[in-house]
Amino acid sequence: MQGRFITFEGMDGCGKTTQLRLLAAALRAQGRDVVETVEPGGTELGQQIRRILLDPASSEMHARTELLLYFASRAQNAAQVIRPALAAGKLVLCDRFTDSTLVYQGCGRGLDAGIVRQLDAIACEGLRPDATVLIDIDRETSLARARKRNQRNGPAESRIDEESAAFHERVRRGYLALAAEEPELFLVIDGRTDVAGVSARIQDALGVALGTAGSLHV
Ligand code: TYD
Repeated sequence: MQGRFITFEGMDGCGKTTQLRLLAAALRAQGRDVVETVEPGGTELGQQIRRILLDPASSEMHARTELLLYFASRAQNAAQVIRPALAAGKLVLCDRFTDSTLVYQGCGRGLDAGIVRQLDAIACEGLRPDATVLIDIDRETSLARARKRNQRNGPAESRIDEESAAFHERVRRGYLALAAEEPELFLVIDGRTDVAGVSARIQDALGVALGTAGSLHV
């Protein structure tokens, strides 16, 4: 039996991590075997790469170095965690995947999308999500939530948090363009409403409550 691979995408502060956990809990309650992972950082090695990538002290990092490090983390995760879990028939939920690189490094930093896709082919060897949940929020909501989080947890962990409004606007437009290109793969959800409401919509669309009735069967 082949498993299913579902990715969660969206701007910083969109709530994807919370939503991923809620979906994982709902699926487990139904007896499904679920693996949760994250990019960058889903493996031991990936965690080390994540620290380098997000460290504000890495400010001199070139955009191409950054690009390669994201894919280095992803290659390891695909080989060590995601593919084996899928081969064992498990459901894999991943917090960010290649679409993040397409929009942050491609649309955000202006790197060529063709190169990002070539690296994806090398790092992931054709591994693609069966469905992608895109939680859409506007830049103002993203900023407001990041500020709140920083008040709670201390200063931002991520260098990307410090990018300009125009950068984040390109990221958002990039995500919506990807979703428009492949509407059968993407589930786009308005992330500005309450957590429970967003979660219910995701579960409905994925057919979780009814087993197989959603449009993106899991
Ligand atoms: P994430 O852990 O999702 O942060 P948050 O929980 O704050 O949303 O992602 C960390 C940062 O890494 C985020 O700002 C987006 C960025 N990123 C890229 O720029 N490219 C990528 O390929 C990935 C996976 C993440």
